Amino acid sequence: MTKNASGRTLDSYSKSAEKYEEKFFKYQPYKRQIEKFNDFIPEGSEILDIGCGPGINAGILSGFGHRVTGFDYCEKMVELAKKNCPSGNFSVNTVNNYSSSLKYDALCLSFIIVHLDNDAVNELFAKLVSFLKLPGFVYISFMTGKKPGYEKTSFSENELFFNYFRTEDIIRSFKKQRFIPVYNASEPYTESDGSITEDVFLFFRKDG
Ligand SMILES: C[S@@+](CC[C@H](N)C(=O)[O-])C[C@H]1O[C@@H](n2cnc3c(N)ncnc32)[C@H](O)[C@@H]1O
Repeated sequence: MTKNASGRTLDSYSKSAEKYEEKFFKYQPYKRQIEKFNDFIPEGSEILDIGCGPGINAGILSGFGHRVTGFDYCEKMVELAKKNCPSGNFSVNTVNNYSSSLKYDALCLSFIIVHLDNDAVNELFAKLVSFLKLPGFVYISFMTGKKPGYEKTSFSENELFFNYFRTEDIIRSFKKQRFIPVYNASEPYTESDGSITEDVFLFFRKDG
């Protein structure tokens, strides 16, 4: 388990999974980005959703005809994912422990690195290629603009660990592994305390 997987963040998600689902189920800015990703990936893709949460993205992607496998360390989230994406294949697992002999056409990392410390992010990035068929695609979203730490959010009264990243650092990490950036978008996000951060959405392609 990662340092943060064992503690407060998992506890907080276990208590707030339904509130998270309610808040983001129809959240158009995120939905639009996932729909955009569909334009890049082959029809009928096999997709691995890392930190799938309540299966909102999985539901959208399976609606486009893709097959989604997902995992999350929060049991309640996995239960919701099964409900929201009945055709998906979901399990409880941590980013740290997950391994797979299967390879996927695309990987979805939607606001998962935001809960990992920098070492855990580097470990995850180092194993992404082992999950990918080539050519393969990666969707990654994260926030930029604040210092890492524990925070309450609009969907959780209990604090969660949030990490923040610089877009150029993430792009550099992927380029080191010969991923090609193919899409880069950002949207302002107003936090529950009124502060504004930026959500970043990047897509990468890796050729064979
Ligand atoms: C911000 S939510 C994003 C959920 C989903 N990807 C989405 O975009 O709607 C982060 C998710 O990551 C999960 N998570 C956080 N740390 C994890 C870890 N180390 N291993 C597996 N899942 C983790 C949480 O339980 C939560 O469901």
